[in-house]
Amino acid sequence: MSHQAAKLEELVKQNSNIIPKKTRFIAITSGKGGVGKSTISSNMAYIMAKHGLKVGIFDADIGLANLDVMFNVKIQKNILHVLRGEATVAEILVPIEENLVLIPGESGEEIFKYASEGLFERFLDDAHVLDDLDVMIIDTGAGIGEHIQLFLRACDDVIVVTVPDPAAITDAYATIKITSRLRNEIHVIMNQVRNTQEATALFEKIQKVAGLNIGNQLQLNFLGHVSSDQKVSSSVKKRALYTREFPMSTPSKELELIVKKIAKKLERNMLAIPEESGLSGLFKRLMEHF
Ligand SMILES: Nc1ncnc2c1ncn2[C@@H]1O[C@H](COP(=O)(O)OP(=O)(O)O)[C@@H](O)[C@H]1O
Ligand SMILES: [Mg+2]
Repeated sequence: MSHQAAKLEELVKQNSNIIPKKTRFIAITSGKGGVGKSTISSNMAYIMAKHGLKVGIFDADIGLANLDVMFNVKIQKNILHVLRGEATVAEILVPIEENLVLIPGESGEEIFKYASEGLFERFLDDAHVLDDLDVMIIDTGAGIGEHIQLFLRACDDVIVVTVPDPAAITDAYATIKITSRLRNEIHVIMNQVRNTQEATALFEKIQKVAGLNIGNQLQLNFLGHVSSDQKVSSSVKKRALYTREFPMSTPSKELELIVKKIAKKLERNMLAIPEESGLSGLFKRLMEHF
């Protein structure tokens, strides 16, 4: 452990007098942009919150249509303001629903500029306001950049989202291959598919290539699929969550199934380890590998 990380660990220990839950960190990533990461992250967070989990959703993808657009909220300040000492964590949080809070983030690249300046420490104490989260979903950017990899390494689960088009599948595979150096289990969601058969066939194809080239130490896990549906795209356009607008639609039910699978993992995750919770826990993990 680096000196920096050891110092952080000490700080986190000092500040963990409240008894937090252990937060499960879930990264949603992709090889190619525009495959539905933000759509899936936001709707997944909404479904989890509806089921009573305390959910934080961290936007680490700074692009055009991001989580502020998905939730139809205005963001004034983000995590960089906190790292610069210009705002508290509580001030940047955007409540979306009961049990659901948006944490306006930044790309890993920006965040890590502050890490090298040793500015995480003062932030950790403050970040404890989020220690009671059950889940933190992190919407990463697309691609295989090293800062995205830091998020993927820090999380408990990595979910790679892809769509059926060949370029997206190739890029998803590249992401899986690089991420397999960091972890043994990677989850896949097939988005915008025509039907279950197409989703399964595509997943099996990726799995076969992975088995041949990466080897069987990697467990590639098919979490499920979300059908291509005009209700999804029209909701995004209206800045509405499709699972709220159309809870009985096929893509909503499909995402519910995916959430159910993830929730099963959460049940096995209840043992509290204080320094592993909330936003401070996430940053601590990020630092360990920095
Ligand atoms: N299941 C789906 N059915 C139809 N359109 C979808 C679906 N998922 C995503 N989209 C469309 O794809 C667009 C890009 O999705 P987005 O979540 O912004 O991708 P990313 O975050 O990966 O860049 C959305 O604006 C939406 O119109
Ligand atoms: Mg996005």
